[in-house]
Amino acid sequence: MDFTVKPLSTHMGAEVTGVDLNAGMGDNLAQSLRQVWLENGGFMVIRDQKNLTAEGHIAFGAAMGPLFGAPDQEPLQDTVSRYIHPEHPEIYRVSNKLDETGEPLGRKGAGTYWHSDVSFRDRPAAASILHAVEIPPVGGNTLFADMTKAFNELSEAMKDLLRPLKAVHDFEVAAYQQYTNLVLVTDDLKTGANRAVHPVVRTHEETGAESLFINPGFTSHLEGFDADESSWLLDNLYAHATRPEFIYRHSWSDHDVVVWDNRSLMHYAIMDYGDVPRYMERTTCIGGRPV
Ligand SMILES: [Fe+2]
Repeated sequence: MDFTVKPLSTHMGAEVTGVDLNAGMGDNLAQSLRQVWLENGGFMVIRDQKNLTAEGHIAFGAAMGPLFGAPDQEPLQDTVSRYIHPEHPEIYRVSNKLDETGEPLGRKGAGTYWHSDVSFRDRPAAASILHAVEIPPVGGNTLFADMTKAFNELSEAMKDLLRPLKAVHDFEVAAYQQYTNLVLVTDDLKTGANRAVHPVVRTHEETGAESLFINPGFTSHLEGFDADESSWLLDNLYAHATRPEFIYRHSWSDHDVVVWDNRSLMHYAIMDYGDVPRYMERTTCIGGRPV
């Protein structure tokens, strides 16, 4: 394929230039990009996608996997339904901007904590694809933590201890704990549609790599432990997983399209730009059941 790939750090991430996603998504291009993505720890930025339309974004997303909100697929959680693009149910908007009537154009301050997208569903997100349509001149970086590297660098004794464990991921608990006043607690949350139990260590269905699959944003506790024991173990694993050696910090350029793998990465959006306008559009692929 006729594009250029450069590493972004010594441990993860690739920068791709020379691709126009809007020119169409042939099987070869989709397959080549997927390969680059998987070989680089599940992170790639495709630069300079100025021409990318909502339709082009959705076509690329659909080539990466089934999308939340697509006609025959489940939507994202109800609490973000007001931020879904009115004409494109596959697109979730992240923004601090308002429209002419004063309504938010997207979810403000989304993801300002370590998390893996939609981990509270039985089938959590695989790829998330974020198109930076408008960004502040400085600030608004996003951090990514490599949960495969974090797992690999644990001792064999700790790996063996963690492999049989299961964690509960619960959006309601996270909503109450972290942003009670920002989130409407809907019936959907109470019926358990946004609660799932997953293995603490998951094996990537495409690469075979093992990763830690817990996150402070949505993981409420470990199954079978006392609450104190669960917090003690989780907090220490989070401290380990967010060591600087495992982090890549993305400084956005205009019309970056970033694709990250929620199966093997956590991310954290830094909200340090106040009211300086920022507008991004995300599509999110539905992954398999973690094993
Ligand atoms: Fe996120």
